[in-house]
Amino acid sequence: MTVYNLALIGFGGVNRALAEIVAERNERLREELGFGLRVVAVTDLRLGSIVCADGVDLDAILALGPGDGDFSQYEGGSPEPRNEWVIKNAPADVVVEATFTNPLDGEPAVSHCRWALTSGRHVVTTNKGPVALAAEELKALAAGSGAAFEFEGAVMSGTPVIRLVKRMFGGLELSGFEGILNGTSNYVLGRMESGLDFDAAVREAQELGFAEADPTADVEGHDVRLKVAILANELLGACLSPADVPCTGISALTAEDIDKAAAEGTRWKLIGSARREPDGSVSAQVAPHAVPLSHHLAGVSGAVNAVAFDTDLLGVVTISGPGAGRLETAYALLSDIIAIHEAKTTPTTRSVLSS
Ligand code: HSE
Repeated sequence: MTVYNLALIGFGGVNRALAEIVAERNERLREELGFGLRVVAVTDLRLGSIVCADGVDLDAILALGPGDGDFSQYEGGSPEPRNEWVIKNAPADVVVEATFTNPLDGEPAVSHCRWALTSGRHVVTTNKGPVALAAEELKALAAGSGAAFEFEGAVMSGTPVIRLVKRMFGGLELSGFEGILNGTSNYVLGRMESGLDFDAAVREAQELGFAEADPTADVEGHDVRLKVAILANELLGACLSPADVPCTGISALTAEDIDKAAAEGTRWKLIGSARREPDGSVSAQVAPHAVPLSHHLAGVSGAVNAVAFDTDLLGVVTISGPGAGRLETAYALLSDIIAIHEAKTTPTTRSVLSS
């Protein structure tokens, strides 16, 4: 049976959750998917790095709590992250990039992906930075080395959107989309409707674990801007950088704005959208809108995300599901690995007409 060796770059919530899935479900995954997973390397800014060709002891490293020391206490461990060395030299088939998102230049994640792809390793990532800022370069590197660059979790965590539209919308013309793509801001708007003030609602979102440690990117729309650029580029064939997407967040909305919208039968939503213009170009933006309660995104509440696609033959198709969460985002990484396996094992169809 095929076993994919994984190098986990970053050992925060998402890659820890992937390690838990591998530790707990590998047997079931083998039976259901026809391949196994083995973690052969892990790197982390705080914990250092560990490389073990026979498989890292996941139970041991998952049990490491704050104050329990770093990976150097284990065989193959070092107190240094050594990301470049590990990515280029660990016996991994797939590099799993889940370090923090840097919205300015995507680093160091872009370099992590570059090192992996130039070394012929597949990359799966949930990191929005490399996808929004360097997708074309990284796809070209992947094509050159025969590796895969997969990033389903960059938008709406494990809820399938990018691959689903690419694979299942064949024959449809997609003219645009609009979505609720940040759980924190949607949660905050809902709590403000219930009478909570903005700061208290943001604190709640942080306590519940879906807001970033610095929630500025959530409430100012910067997180949505990255996601809109990714969806527009991947699904509408645009060439947008995040800076091309005008962006307004929700921090200027007051309790009076919320009450006024309710009195008028509308509700504020932070909407990221993109549309193909008559001249073929794609325009995109992020801004709060007071939408009527009949709008297809009006009923999306709490931290849930949703994106409504405008198609010619089906009309509006809305996909809704979790957009954050450690296990939900780790599932996106698993779905990327499944896609890599399917691409490797599915024979390409040849046209009988040409034979
Ligand atoms: N902090 C984000 C959200 C999740 O609240 O939706 C990661 O993109």
